[in-house]
Amino acid sequence: MDERFERYVTELFAAEDPVLAKIRERHQSEKLPAINVSPEEGKLLHVLLRLIQAKNVLEIGTLGGYSGVWLARALAAGGVLATIEGESKHAAIAREAFAAAGLQDRVRLIEGAALDILPTLSPGFDAVFIDADKEPLPRYFDWGMRLLRNGGLLLCDNAFFHGAAVDPKDKSAAGAGVRRFNELAAGDPRLVATIVPVRDGLVVGVKVGN
Ligand code: SAH
Ligand code: DHB
Ligand code: MG
Repeated sequence: MDERFERYVTELFAAEDPVLAKIRERHQSEKLPAINVSPEEGKLLHVLLRLIQAKNVLEIGTLGGYSGVWLARALAAGGVLATIEGESKHAAIAREAFAAAGLQDRVRLIEGAALDILPTLSPGFDAVFIDADKEPLPRYFDWGMRLLRNGGLLLCDNAFFHGAAVDPKDKSAAGAGVRRFNELAAGDPRLVATIVPVRDGLVVGVKVGN
């Protein structure tokens, strides 16, 4: 997207409050990778959860809690965000972020490798947001579909993966994971999906069958 349009959307619709601004400052001071969603992507995730009055949401890849705050703030009353993080340093920082946001009762932070944690979760999620390592994305697709309720949202960041999705010369395992995920999302008859070209691309799909 044209940067001017991105800035316009962010300033008008996705201005950060001090809690979100502080999480990003913390990323810098703790030298976490700056790969959190952008404010306008956070707001899009928030709107999508509000649209379905989501109560039971799963995130794969917490980092410092930035996207988690956008997601958790969108939950209907009594809702819970479960979010999986494999790096203990990231998890500790995210835990503090959720507490600072007053969201400690709405967020369940699960530490561990995603593929170890996913089999322990019960199905019935209203939405699953995938934003972790890219090589296993086809397996995250299967888990997302298994864990979502009918009508639930499958969401996945980095659909373009900095251009690797459309680069015929890309031979990376991460790029292959992204392309395969996109093909699965496009072709699976149980899902109706598209890519919203916000920042690095967001796959948005609705589960329409088992
Ligand atoms: N959703 C976050 C950004 C996530 S960055 C935001 O927008 O704010 C990706 C995160 O996934 C990193 O913190 C990384 O440690 C974690 N991660 C990567 N591979 C993982 C795996 N296999 N299991 C669990 N966490 C993983
Ligand atoms: C990268 C970016 C992301 O948003 C992410 O979730 C994972 C990796 C990256 O730039 O490598
Ligand atoms: Mg991402």
